[in-house]
Amino acid sequence: MIKIAPSILSADFANLGRDIQRVGSADWLHVDVMDGMFVSNISIGVPVVKSVRKFTDMFLDVHLMIEKPARYISAFADAGADLISVHLEADMPPGIREALRLMEEKKVKRGIVLRPITSAEAVLPYLEEIDLVLVMTVEPGFGGQSFMADQLPKIRAIRRYMDQYNPQCHLEVDGGVDLVTAPRVIEAGANVLVAGSAIYGATDIEAAIKSLRG
Ligand code: DX5
Ligand code: ZN
Repeated sequence: MIKIAPSILSADFANLGRDIQRVGSADWLHVDVMDGMFVSNISIGVPVVKSVRKFTDMFLDVHLMIEKPARYISAFADAGADLISVHLEADMPPGIREALRLMEEKKVKRGIVLRPITSAEAVLPYLEEIDLVLVMTVEPGFGGQSFMADQLPKIRAIRRYMDQYNPQCHLEVDGGVDLVTAPRVIEAGANVLVAGSAIYGATDIEAAIKSLRG
């Protein structure tokens, strides 16, 4: 079963509650946190996650695009994140391990994200102990960019590794996912699809969510 995770980065932040209600037929809510360092953009942080948590029962999938994410795991977990994912490129391995340890301590699901430049194999040292791998199909930082088809072999490779080492693990794809690219990432093995502009830019949001599921 394919899960759809609308990215609130494409929502109208002045009407965030309304825009969360509009995607109520989706499965997860994807929250993009950017620090202006790991990526050039700055988006939202802990207080917004806290307010969103009070507003909805949806599963909160928090994508941290921040340097040394271990510093903020407890805060985002306490704010109500259900799953937190950290970029492998955002710290040295001991820092990534520490972030995963804190997630386990806080009982939130654990995700690892790979930038387009990072190989599938980079996730192997962590694969058996995590709940999700997120493959970026754009350079992180902004919504509305074009899908990078050169990431499809990486999605396939990670699906094979998951079959072997951790079949329960989710494989999520983020960036440029729309009605044309969704079937391609699903075919490659993804089971969670993040979509910002393809959902919030649609005239019929519920229909868009349904079509993305395939
Ligand atoms: C980009 C973010 C994405 C973004 C996706 O750095 O991680 O979640 O919102 O937006 P679309 O679907 O428009 O590419
Ligand atoms: Zn994201």
